[in-house]
Amino acid sequence: MWIAALSSSEVGRDRPLGVRRLNMNLVFWRDKSGRVNALLDDCPHRHAKLSLGKVINGNIQCPYHGFEFDGLGRTVKVPALGKSSEIPKYLRAISIPVYEAHGIIWLWYGSGDPSKAPRFFDDLDGLIAYSEYSETWSVSLPRAVENQLDVFHLPFVHYNTIGRGGKTLVHGPLVKVLDDYSFIIYPFNEVDRGQKPLRSNQIDASKLRNYLWFIYPNVWENYISRNMRIIAFFAPIDSGSTRIYVRLYMRVTGARAIDRAITKLLMPFNIYVLHQDSRVVLTQSNDITHDKLIHADYPIALYRRMYLRDKELNKLLNSAVKP
Ligand code: FES
Ligand SMILES: [Fe+2]
Repeated sequence: MWIAALSSSEVGRDRPLGVRRLNMNLVFWRDKSGRVNALLDDCPHRHAKLSLGKVINGNIQCPYHGFEFDGLGRTVKVPALGKSSEIPKYLRAISIPVYEAHGIIWLWYGSGDPSKAPRFFDDLDGLIAYSEYSETWSVSLPRAVENQLDVFHLPFVHYNTIGRGGKTLVHGPLVKVLDDYSFIIYPFNEVDRGQKPLRSNQIDASKLRNYLWFIYPNVWENYISRNMRIIAFFAPIDSGSTRIYVRLYMRVTGARAIDRAITKLLMPFNIYVLHQDSRVVLTQSNDITHDKLIHADYPIALYRRMYLRDKELNKLLNSAVKP
């Protein structure tokens, strides 16, 4: 399955990038055509870090003895053997399938066929101008994701920003399950005047403009209006740390550069809101098995079912530390 791992802007043209994802040290670089490649950041010769090396002719060169590897992990040059010798077949680096789309670099994990494109939101209505912010949280992937699926922390965590108004009563929550890997939440909260929370089938979704869309394993959209979205993805570094990427998409003037500048100006507010979250989320234990959920946690339970079923991702994240 594809998992969003990096922002496209992080992998430059001429320098390898060493970064930890899915509990593995990886090296990313772009070849001559700009295509992104990823290998374990571990030279098969004597295990130096490839990310300290150079990009040469679209391949990565190990900093230790200059062996060169292509994006599939094949050794294409061993300088010590000279130009005329054959390269031993056993010298092979480990490659990870990569896909670049929507300004995101996706990594493949588990079995299956990586030829299909990763799933992304198809409701962007041509919104293209955005700015992005990212930071690392010392929490597990589920804790980071679940915070964004939580419709009732707002009046507490964000009491003076996006949760103003003291709407502590949660109706529903109304959730539209699209398929095994994605769902849409229509948050509907009100000030508690003694009314009973509505059941999800008593809520008229057509009256609710705002929704949250989650696509497993780790991309999330907050539909604010036709001209404004927040998109986030949660890139797992290992079992206890996750990099959070937040993007603000806007259409104000229709001119990309100007709209981009506007999103940039508004980003500090989003970062402030994000830090309201991190203040609390970073105090949670990573063990989700002892949580006692309530009805309003329904979207979280849905996500958890997907996550706990995903043996391949759990195995990767919870295995012993890899090189
Ligand atoms: S350790 Fe990489 S070439 Fe020797
Ligand atoms: Fe929040």
